[in-house]
Amino acid sequence: MSNQNESQTKATESALTHTRRDFLRKGAIAGSGLMILPSGTLFGQNTPNNRLNVALIGAGGRGRAHIPTLKDENVVAICDVDQIKMQTATKAFPSAKVYQDWRECLDHDGLDAILCTATDFSHAFIANWALARDLHIYMEKPLAITVNEARTVRESYLPKRDKLATQVGMQRHANPNFNRLREMVQDGVIGDLKEAYAWGDRQIPKPGYLPDAGAAPETLNWDLWLGPSPFHPYNPGYIAERAGCLEWNMYWDFGIGQMGDMGSHTMDLAWNVIDAELPTSIESETDEEFNPDVTPVKLQSSFIFPANDWRDKIRVSWFQGGAMPKSPSNWIDLNTIGHGVMFKGTKGFIVADFGSRLIIPFGDTADLTYFKPRKEEELLPELGNFQKQWTTACKNGRPSETACNFKYSADMIETMCLGLVAYRAGGKLEYDGATGKITNNADANQYLTKEYREGWSMEG
Ligand SMILES: NC(=O)c1ccc[n+]([C@@H]2O[C@H](COP(=O)([O-])OP(=O)(O)OC[C@H]3O[C@@H](n4cnc5c(N)ncnc54)[C@H](O)[C@@H]3O)[C@@H](O)[C@H]2O)c1
Repeated sequence: MSNQNESQTKATESALTHTRRDFLRKGAIAGSGLMILPSGTLFGQNTPNNRLNVALIGAGGRGRAHIPTLKDENVVAICDVDQIKMQTATKAFPSAKVYQDWRECLDHDGLDAILCTATDFSHAFIANWALARDLHIYMEKPLAITVNEARTVRESYLPKRDKLATQVGMQRHANPNFNRLREMVQDGVIGDLKEAYAWGDRQIPKPGYLPDAGAAPETLNWDLWLGPSPFHPYNPGYIAERAGCLEWNMYWDFGIGQMGDMGSHTMDLAWNVIDAELPTSIESETDEEFNPDVTPVKLQSSFIFPANDWRDKIRVSWFQGGAMPKSPSNWIDLNTIGHGVMFKGTKGFIVADFGSRLIIPFGDTADLTYFKPRKEEELLPELGNFQKQWTTACKNGRPSETACNFKYSADMIETMCLGLVAYRAGGKLEYDGATGKITNNADANQYLTKEYREGWSMEG
């Protein structure tokens, strides 16, 4: 056997061992019945009907999509800074206590869990405070908007991973294609994995922060909407639904643009395959001029990840707003896929979107004889309803088995945020994931965090 074949066989064996482990792990949660945990209390997850006492934080907009899941639990509190936007939820759960300030809501008596769909710039704060109160958390994507926020939440979560169920709202993860891509790449359909690419074409250009538009309506608490963010005068253009979806997330103080928006969903397609933690080096480029108010529309970021037990060192790249990877063939126009991924291996490519995939073996002689498709019974089990996976994990004694828990999701969003650090700092950055420091450019470390308003802290 040639060295190449030998290492190929080893890689395939290790991939199979890995995916078998994976199957057992994911199968365990899918196949399990709920178990009522030993009860110390008479409310929430330990009540005879096994319903969680949940607070819905951020009740309008995306929050409304979670009402069907929450109908199976006890929604005991609803928190929103906008009295109008919260009305669908307050009608759905008329006995819930209403809050405007999430800091007060988190101390609601007898709470088991929170489901949060507030703005991105409050996510890491709310997550960290909720972890400190031992609450299960479903947090909309992205989990954080800076490297330090992601690291803080992960650090708080890891010691509690065996008691708290967490899930970040990357619900497309439940699409069967996520499993199929993981199986095919790890089982070797394109040989040894060398590179992964993810891209999204959404563009929400903004010139800069909006002018003062006078007082906010009485039904909106603008001060609490701003929360930890530096002060900006009220302008209705920031508020989604009045202006459009996620209007605020292009501004540095309020979000991370497409990195946190469609980037959360689309990079997840690659992240679910590659079993990576944190990158060792990062580079970003764009031909767009830097805007101190607004995150870039067009950007390309590349991350190098060390080898793991089934693959070599790889490069993973994210492209947004018009930047695109090179197509593997001149008869495939990647631009027709708005949000997609591509994996490059030693024997071919896979191109995919959220619901389909295309295997492209290299060259005329590529015959796929090296690849054995799985039998039906060996396929990774379906995840089922994504939100339900979380409520189930809150109750079944295996809380860390949610697909997008705070370890998986914090690593991914820390990586994406590092792309923006490289964009701001310029040049190639070397990153030490153990300490969370850029090691070759001291100046770049300032971009690992951001400015917060006085009186707001992630510790609470
Ligand atoms: N998973 C998905 O597919 C998906 C889709 C859309 C949005 N999202 C995410 O959901 C979140 C909300 O997005 P949206 O478009 O609904 O935004 P939005 O601006 O409409 O906000 C949602 C709700 O949260 C409320 N809110 C804002 N700040 C709050 C605070 N500090 N405390 C309590 N309530 C607050 C708003 O008043 C509103 O009712 C974002 O994080 C976004 O990324 C996810």
